[in-house]
Amino acid sequence: MMERPFAEVASVGVAVPSGILTNADLSRVLDTSDEWIVERTGIRERHIATAEQSVAMLSHDAATRALAAAGASAADLDAIVLATASPDRLLPSTACDLQALLGAENAAAFDIGAACPGYIYALTVAEGLIASGQSRTVLVVGAEKLSTITDFEDRSTAILFGDGAGASVVRPSTVPGRGILSTYIKSDGRLAPLLYRPGGGSADPISEKVVCERSHYMKMAGREVFKAAVLAMAEACDQALRRAGITAGQVDLLVPHQANLRIIEATAKHAGIPMSKVMVNVDRYGNTSSASIPLALEEALAEGRVGPGSVVLLVAFGAGFTWGSTVIRW
Ligand code: UT7
Repeated sequence: MMERPFAEVASVGVAVPSGILTNADLSRVLDTSDEWIVERTGIRERHIATAEQSVAMLSHDAATRALAAAGASAADLDAIVLATASPDRLLPSTACDLQALLGAENAAAFDIGAACPGYIYALTVAEGLIASGQSRTVLVVGAEKLSTITDFEDRSTAILFGDGAGASVVRPSTVPGRGILSTYIKSDGRLAPLLYRPGGGSADPISEKVVCERSHYMKMAGREVFKAAVLAMAEACDQALRRAGITAGQVDLLVPHQANLRIIEATAKHAGIPMSKVMVNVDRYGNTSSASIPLALEEALAEGRVGPGSVVLLVAFGAGFTWGSTVIRW
């Protein structure tokens, strides 16, 4: 087996819609309150895209920033791996729309459907493309417009989700020891009905019935998903650390999926990482699924909490169920 790291995350760029939906806004239309939402989730507000802002457009803005930060151009891209649970269309992939917007004429482009750990899944694919020699410069994107698949009449899910996009340029490691030290991805499809969109796909194509039953929106058994998330994120932290051959004490920053502050705290506690070394921005974005980790990572970079040599642990859990983790030396 080849020695790691094969690939480094050269940059992170993000795009966040300017529209903000606060807990107070939601309390006016739903039987909920700011107190309940903050206490149970840690969320205070989330960003919501306009009707005109597509996932591909948000991805384009994030990608343009990531390319500039990495000193790369769209023509350098060999592959675009875009993770999303809210694609603009079911056919073709949003990655192909992004390719067209960027003018990335040399890239293969495809979507990954892995829900919230999508960015980690996409990084894993990018690393593999680079390790195999298939690609040299890969654009990894996590982008969502979850507001379009959220049922704003269901208080148990409407309070949770937001929109946004994050992108990274991944390329062969340029400095010895810098890059992706380990990855771990896992799934359990038996639990799909605990968090899913029952209607609107080919199993139950869009119809008047689907729309009337609102089954084209996300449904979630919150408490069950919560328990599974805590267990899976704990396991994923252990696996990524073990595979990287490091201990929790060597981690400079834990960047967990931003779904619920209580899940983040439980994950940090299990991993033995103090909250002072945990990135949290769920209060301002809510759960943005595959965009969640790059949004948090970019903020950590901007604040100087991650810099050259930093060891970062990313971990996420979501619909599928899917979960995953990675250790990166910056
Ligand atoms: O990103 C993918 C992974 N997703 C997640 O990780 C989400 C995981 N789940 C969660 O974060 C939490 O389960 C929720 C935030 C969704 C819910 O919190 P909870 O503490 O698990 O509440 P619950 O579902 O057990 O509901 C407790 C009570 C219920 O009332 P009763 O039955 O006790 O009378 C709900 O009807 O809270 C009620 N409730 C609400 N009350 C006010 C549910 N949603 C709301 C609401 N406002 N928005």
